[in-house]
Amino acid sequence: GVVGGVAPVETRFEQPLVVPATRRGADIRLVMRRAKVRALADGPRTTMWTYDGTYPGPTIRRRGGRGTEVTVVNRLPRGAGAMSTHLHGDHHAPADDGQPTTHLIRRGDERTYRYPLLVDGRPEPGSFFWYHDHRMDRTARNNWRGLQGMFIVTDPPTRGLRLPTGRRDVPLMVSERSFTPGNQLTDPFADGPDMTGHHGEMSWTGEHAPPDDATVGDTVLVNGRHAPYLEVSATRHRLRLLNSSPFSSYNFTLSDGRPFLQIGTGSGLLPRAVVRSSVLLGPSQRADVVVDFSGASGQRLVLASVPAAPGTTGDDARETAVMEFRVGAPAPDASRLPSRLPSPRLVAPVPAQVSRTWTFGLEETARHGSAWTIDGRAFDPRRVDHRVRLGTVERWRLRNDSEVTHYVHIHAQQWRTLLRDGERPPPWERGLEDTWRLEPGEEVEVAARFTDYTGPFMIHCHMLDHEDHGMMARFDVVP
Ligand code: C2O
Ligand code: CU
Repeated sequence: GVVGGVAPVETRFEQPLVVPATRRGADIRLVMRRAKVRALADGPRTTMWTYDGTYPGPTIRRRGGRGTEVTVVNRLPRGAGAMSTHLHGDHHAPADDGQPTTHLIRRGDERTYRYPLLVDGRPEPGSFFWYHDHRMDRTARNNWRGLQGMFIVTDPPTRGLRLPTGRRDVPLMVSERSFTPGNQLTDPFADGPDMTGHHGEMSWTGEHAPPDDATVGDTVLVNGRHAPYLEVSATRHRLRLLNSSPFSSYNFTLSDGRPFLQIGTGSGLLPRAVVRSSVLLGPSQRADVVVDFSGASGQRLVLASVPAAPGTTGDDARETAVMEFRVGAPAPDASRLPSRLPSPRLVAPVPAQVSRTWTFGLEETARHGSAWTIDGRAFDPRRVDHRVRLGTVERWRLRNDSEVTHYVHIHAQQWRTLLRDGERPPPWERGLEDTWRLEPGEEVEVAARFTDYTGPFMIHCHMLDHEDHGMMARFDVVP
């Protein structure tokens, strides 16, 4: 079932990796516009929809606790429609959340999003967030066209951790697309994006929504470029891995078996670092890892995605080369491998009882025919599916009642994972999280305290085809 799988050995790494431009400061402006970008090594550039002329858009870096305002201007072509920019993972008010149907940015207009980078009065922990379009029914199309960028919340310098910094701190946005022979993006949405399904009536109504009917690309891009290489010194590097693909999972490995030291999720540090031979990330999941390239001078190491053994977690991941590291000479390295990490602020104590179970499935619905659903219902932005009282701790159960894997994302807060299938979660799931993998039949229990903001928020599958086709619900935080 792998579409366009490329064995690492066949891939030629011909273009240097590009790290997107960094923006800092309290006042940032991003213009959404069409631009030609260099995605493939040879031939014409690709026309994409961008934040500020590049794909990915600029990486915003800002210290936790220092608020920033991001003004997004819509200068996209006629027909693109209104947009909504969501900062995934961040804690902010509903009006600044970039939700699917409200506070939209119409063509020619702009909107200022306010991100205080505070949680309950304290600076948000160092995190690897990202921003992307979230427009109702059009999220898959708008992300495919290029409306994606990264946002790094940094810690105060007093933190005392000596992680690799500067050029040795590399954000990597991995995302797949397909191209025409003329190097332009294919248009899987040509039938018109709406609730009846962009691949024609039947595609998302099939019982398994097979991968070839989903938005799966055959070409993997890293920071917008296919098969890039990065020259690194034979020292430790911090890699911030993000899977911003619409649908696919990646099980990242290094070609010489070199391990990743995972120090965090996308939402802050883990209680302790975990040595991993592979890191599985579904849509919108992130991992903060350190790779030690010492001893590899003169070698070329391939970062690849390799499916796990059949019948085990990650057997659905893509099989593909991703990028190459060209390891140069050793160099001075002041970084330290952190054995002990400052503990994340996990909510405690947690309620013994589950306050809400959300069930992810596929149903016949009266209004939309067969739809991806939560609790048997397709998304209706006017319907409140749950109410949460501000200041309280909620314990939620996420349950996959369908025959395919989903990646469930919750807005508003960062969560503690309490149980996965009734057991203590694996070590890499013991930090804060906002997106969980849920295999068929799986159940995850999570807890968070709701602070600061009242109003509507979303819970949804982050496989964009599922999200656009009903698998989203609304909960309201009330005073
Ligand atoms: Cu990354 Cu509701 O989205
Ligand atoms: Cu899903």
